[in-house]
Amino acid sequence: MMIVPPGGTIGILGGGQLGRMLATAAAELGFDVHVFTPESDSPAARVAARTTVASYDDAAALAAFAAAVDVVTFEFESVPHRAAEILREAGAVLRPQASAFAVARNRLAEKRFFNAVGIETAAFAPIGAETLDLALAAVGLPAIIKTAEDGYDGKGQARVASREEAEAAIARLGPGPLIIEAFCQFEREISIVAARGEDGAFVAFEPGENRHEAGILSTTIVPARISPEIAAKARAHVSALMEALAYVGVLAVEFFVMPDGRLLGNEMAPRVHNSGHWTQDAASVSQFELQIRAAAGWPLPAPERFADVEMRNLLGEDAALWRSFAADPKARLHLYGKREARTGRKMGHVTLLKATKDREVR
Ligand SMILES: Nc1ncnc2c1ncn2[C@@H]1O[C@H](COP(=O)(O)OP(=O)(O)O)[C@@H](O)[C@H]1O
Ligand SMILES: [Mg+2]
Repeated sequence: MMIVPPGGTIGILGGGQLGRMLATAAAELGFDVHVFTPESDSPAARVAARTTVASYDDAAALAAFAAAVDVVTFEFESVPHRAAEILREAGAVLRPQASAFAVARNRLAEKRFFNAVGIETAAFAPIGAETLDLALAAVGLPAIIKTAEDGYDGKGQARVASREEAEAAIARLGPGPLIIEAFCQFEREISIVAARGEDGAFVAFEPGENRHEAGILSTTIVPARISPEIAAKARAHVSALMEALAYVGVLAVEFFVMPDGRLLGNEMAPRVHNSGHWTQDAASVSQFELQIRAAAGWPLPAPERFADVEMRNLLGEDAALWRSFAADPKARLHLYGKREARTGRKMGHVTLLKATKDREVR
């Protein structure tokens, strides 16, 4: 297994806040970080040793980037297939390997994959103008129609309660591939963030309980208000899924917890995840460090949690609240350095430390 020692260079594809937090975690372990992003003045670039600003289809820039780094990791999953191929052809080691993105990028492939590894999902079907009746018969109403690709933060979705609404949603969200899912009256939403090494080592954080507003993650609380059995089941699901993908790095899976105790897989993200941001402040190792460790071929320590936490996203104008959080000794403030506070834009987050967790004396 290829190991990157301290002083080596970690390449990060993507320049957003996740890249920024990956970069600072890498710096703490003595690595240099080289960011590749099409965006000038990106959040990640401003904390990285080097940055290449070029498009993801710039073959020469990608090849030069591959030659300049010891390993390439990613902060987003919609990495163009061709870009990953160019990096690999140029000799770069990719962790995670790009094959995991193909599954995560398409909601239909993702849900089929969940089912194949034993993770139950809401009823779902591909849907289009021609297959409308078939799909409605398979899934029922109410339902959610989503773009199968490129949706995030609740974008590209419509809740539908009738055939007419479904037709309108198809017209609005198409012409790309669409999925329809049964609407789940879940009790709560949870997610698990876990890491797997190239040697097969698996570690996971406890599930976080997530609240969304307008489709965007608003808060994560840990511990989630679920039974140990459900937590263990979610963890086993994530382990099986990462094993099946032979995945290397950090991955997150979102689940719905149903009132009857069933656990339905919603989606996965082959990267560090917003619901894992609390790990920076209340765990023995953060999700960002685990991703860098997995990329560098380092050991993956099992995380321990030190406190109960609530992570709050600071969206748009929320960032103006920084003063009150800065004055709160129980608040750990993280701002992403974004220049403009557009509505709904993730500007930062704050981790509120609750009671210190009772810890066993060993
Ligand atoms: N089938 C569903 N039933 C009920 N709520 C859903 C369903 N699918 C999505 N949602 C709600 O919308 C949120 C965003 O949907 P998700 O599929 O996770 O897309 P995104 O990629 O935008 O995060 C979910 O976290 C959940 O709150
Ligand atoms: Mg989601």
